Amino acid sequence: MGVNDLKRHFGVLGTGSAAPERILTNAELETMVDTSDEWIVSRTGIRERRIADEGTTSSMLAYEAALQALRSANMDPQDLDLIICATVTPDMAFPATACLLQDLLGLRTIPAFDLSAGCSGFGYALSVAESMLVGGSYKNALVVGVDVLSRITDYEDRSTCVLFGDGAGAAILGEVPEGYGFLASELGAEGSSGSVLQLPGGGSRMPASARSVQERQHYIKMQGSEVFKFAVRILDESARRVIAKAGLNPEDIHWVVPHQANVRIIRSAATRLAIPEERFFVNVERYGNTSAASIGLALDELARSGDVQDGDYVVLVGFGAGLTWSALVMKWWAGNEVCHD
Ligand code: UT7
Repeated sequence: MGVNDLKRHFGVLGTGSAAPERILTNAELETMVDTSDEWIVSRTGIRERRIADEGTTSSMLAYEAALQALRSANMDPQDLDLIICATVTPDMAFPATACLLQDLLGLRTIPAFDLSAGCSGFGYALSVAESMLVGGSYKNALVVGVDVLSRITDYEDRSTCVLFGDGAGAAILGEVPEGYGFLASELGAEGSSGSVLQLPGGGSRMPASARSVQERQHYIKMQGSEVFKFAVRILDESARRVIAKAGLNPEDIHWVVPHQANVRIIRSAATRLAIPEERFFVNVERYGNTSAASIGLALDELARSGDVQDGDYVVLVGFGAGLTWSALVMKWWAGNEVCHD
């Protein structure tokens, strides 16, 4: 028996997602800021987004998505031994939302931590969790990407408020048969460009004060066209590299699940990668940009659609605040999926 025979392989055993019920339409936004349905749809592809009510927090959406993912993997919370939560809108600065989630799940001592990589967070968390599983100390991990961006969105700023929504996406990672699961990944960051997408207030640089509130510093500030250029470049480059690292070609890929920010960015990635648009899973029209939740939410909808088959090659690719990016290739294993409710 060689070393490779002992190597264990990890992949996604189940997925889940959650989104608030309240829908904010483009028509409603037209009454709030100087915008139009026509502008929003033609520039972004977004038609509506979900908005959490006052009492709903990130940990609550994460909990709902986690329970659904556990059910689809046919597992109980007690089967988990690691929780990683990607978010830029934790319930509070600390404790970590992952710790709040651990408590909600009725778990007591397993490690739980948050990770901040903006909209690349879900991919970052998957990759970190997989490394920890490969390391041998853990068996099954819960990864959640969750954001309640409506809490940090400035509904007086038309250049950002039309884009964002709230939601959560979850995945259970565990051992899969040889040849399945994660085949390659790439994480990256260009910290020098971080200022094009940031939330300035509330940290050690600019603690909350009457002035910071008055100056609206606790809301997302974004130079949209700079992020757009970065996104178009990095989706193509990172997906191309990670597909090659997995020993595959773009034409081998059955599904690409990109970060759902703007349909124009996704179309440009399809053209550059020469992968047909029909192989890109898109739900941005219904949720807008849900940041760390976006890829997990899209992956869950893809899994529930029944369109992804056992053995399909799936690419997850995202970009976001940092500026960061994450790209992963996996061979889809459907063996654990027992139900999709
Ligand atoms: O997940 C990572 C986070 N962010 C992103 O992924 C966002 C990436 N960027 C984008 O998706 C696009 O850059 C936007 C959708 C944000 C903007 O689209 P754009 O084609 O880059 O437009 P622009 O920023 O160049 O603005 C074009 C015009 C401007 O007017 P002028 O200066 O040409 O007269 C804006 O003031 O559109 C105007 N504009 C709007 N008009 C109506 C900006 N927002 C709106 C709006 N409604 N909501």
